[in-house]
Order: sequence, then C-alpha cells, then structure tokens
Amino acid sequence: MTAQARGLSRRLLLSRSAAVVGASSAGLLLPEIVRAQSNKVRVGFMLPFTGTYAQLGVAIENGVRMAIAEKGGKLAGREIEWFKVDDESEPSKGVENAQKLVQRDKVDVLIGTVHSGVQMGIQRVARDSGVLSIIPNAGVHAATRALCAPNVFRTSFTNAQPTQALGKPMVERGLKKAVWITWKYAAGDDALEGFKNSYTKAGGTIIKELGLPFPNVEFQALLTEIANLKPDAVACFFAGAGAAKFMRDYAAAGLKDKIPLWGSGFLTEGVLEAAGPAAEGVMTTLHYADSLDTPRNQQFRTAYAGQFKLQPDVYAVQGYDAGQLLLRGADAVKGDLSNKAALYKAMETAVIDSPRGRWTMSKAHNPVQDMYLRVVEKGDNKVLGVAEKAVADSGAGCRMG
Ligand code: BEZ
Repeated sequence: MTAQARGLSRRLLLSRSAAVVGASSAGLLLPEIVRAQSNKVRVGFMLPFTGTYAQLGVAIENGVRMAIAEKGGKLAGREIEWFKVDDESEPSKGVENAQKLVQRDKVDVLIGTVHSGVQMGIQRVARDSGVLSIIPNAGVHAATRALCAPNVFRTSFTNAQPTQALGKPMVERGLKKAVWITWKYAAGDDALEGFKNSYTKAGGTIIKELGLPFPNVEFQALLTEIANLKPDAVACFFAGAGAAKFMRDYAAAGLKDKIPLWGSGFLTEGVLEAAGPAAEGVMTTLHYADSLDTPRNQQFRTAYAGQFKLQPDVYAVQGYDAGQLLLRGADAVKGDLSNKAALYKAMETAVIDSPRGRWTMSKAHNPVQDMYLRVVEKGDNKVLGVAEKAVADSGAGCRMG
C-alpha cells in the first residue's frame, strides 16, 4: 500500500515535517515517512521486454516517458520514481509480477500491459489493492466489461473494436467467404467476436476458424489448409514478431497474390521492416495509421523519431496517451493522487488530444474512437479513410462498484 493509500495526506505530511526533522537528526526516521516526504510519485511499468511482444513493451514505455517529458518530466510538480517489471507475456506469472510492483515497490500507478492473459493478473491485483492502473494495450474484454473497476482505465482498445470495423469493407470488395486465423488466447477470441459481428452483419460467411497456441509460429499446416479451402479472403489477429513471420510465411506459401490478407491492424504495426515485401497490400482496420495527415500526428512522429531513433507505431501512441491521461488526472488533483474521487472524475471526463485523433473515455473506462481502414504501401500503414466513427465497446456487465 502506498504512503497516500495509508492516508498520509499532504496536509498531514506537512504538519509532521517538523517532527521528522527532529526524528531524522535523532536517527529515528520511519521509512514510510521518508518515502512520503520525498514526495515522489511511484510509477511502475509492467510490460513485456522479452519475447514476441518485446518491441511493443518498449514502444509503450517510450510513449509514456515522452508525454511526461514534454510537460517537464513531473506529475503536477512532483518528481517521478520509475519501476519496471518484465512480464514476459507470461499469464501464469501475471499476479506475482503485478504484486512485485504493488506490494514490494509500493507504486502509486501501475501501467501495464500488452498481453490479454497477463492483464487478467493485473486486473485481480488492481481490484484487490485499489491501485490506479492504466492499461496501455491489452484489449481483453473483461477488464472493461464484467471486471471493470473505478481505478482501472484503458488508453488502447478492446480487442473487438478494430475487428468491429473489418467486416463491412471486406464484403464491399466482394470478399464474402473468409477463413479466420489467430493465436488461441483471449485477444484472438475477443477479436473474432468483433469480426463475426461485423462480417456476418454485412453478409459475409466465415467458412472456417483456425488457431494455434500463443506464441507458436509454426503456421505451415494451417496455411496448407487455407490453400485447400480457397476462401475469398483470410482475416486474422496476430501481433509483434509473430505477425511479421505470419505475413512472410503467407507470402512464401504462395497465398499473397491469390487470397487477400486482412486483419486487425496489429498485424502490420511495428513490423513492416521485418515483414518486408510480404506486407505490401495487406489491408487492416485500426485506431491509428502512420500516415494520418494531421499536425498533431506529424508533430508526434517527428518528436518520437528524433528522441528514440525509431518510427512510432500504435503502441507508442497508446503509451503516449497513457502519459497524457495520467498528467491530466494528476493536474486535476494538484498531485494529490489520494484524492481518488476527483482523480477518477478528471480521468473519466478527459478528452485526449491524441496522434490518433481526439478520443473520450466510455463509462466503463475504455476509449471511444474512430477506426481507420489502412493498406500497407511502400512500407507504411497508409490510411484509406475512416472505416467507422466513434467506435465504443459495449462495456457489457460493467458495474462500477
Ligand atoms: C492482447 O493480448 O490483448 C494484444 C496483444 C498485442 C496486440 C494487441 C492485443
């Protein structure tokens, strides 16, 4: 539990400070008072820094740090002490890793994570401890549906949001019979929910659902099955290094020019160099595109590339917006994060001026945002237009307690 959660309000701290000076000189300083006195906000990252999603974790951390550095590197005047845990995208260690940040490091804010299965561990710890938690990627539905919580905010998406916009443009292009393929875990299953809704509503039929365990990249047998099924198109959810491998294998199997490949936009995020020519022409829907022609996006891209010598992607944007949201909340309570009612109110009502376009928070604490139709062209995620405006997740079953 943090110093603030223990009820050491700023006023109390000030009134104690004279006693602390005396105690300090007498060598009797209590550790909790030392921590509170230093008045730093403790911010913990729980992200994958190894494995197939490692690059995603790095981009998110970069984005958060950049947003805060742009505003002077502090939260409402308070310095920040940073903590980091590599969650390895390993769901079985989710609770244990979240507890390292909450119980051992006593963070005031936990920012994480990428993988939906790991997020379920964070969700449990966040709900039990009440620590402020910002989800900068993982789209697992439960986090902002049945297991929503007043102290949990997401700056990314639910897994069904991008695929909710995927079905219509496919059918409009005459692609009426599709095979769905994904990693079989919460993210892939949730993404299928959105695809099934949008594709069948538009008049399409999913002729086969294929899957393999995360993070397996042995795609060959499934690609052979796709070739035999001869669908009009393939739609999928993959991300990170595995997504690049999927696109390369899809092309190497001779499918690229025969069966158009579509996907939830994570398929082509941050991996276009690794995928090379295999990614050209791949169509996706997502809440961001490199080529969004707005001053906000251009300024963000230039600053990010200058600072990190890397091109930003959707993960960097989601991290950046997590930083923006935290700044907004901290400013509203003048740095007193123990003022939870006012903090949550400010975060709930924030309008985030994002490189992706402005977005707002739903009642269940998930972004309401536009989905773009994109195509990979010359190694860039080029935007073709808005596929669906102001897409909101249902938030089904969310009761803020
Ligand atoms: C997820 O597990 O929720 C996820 C991972 C990578 C990209 C998008 C979603």
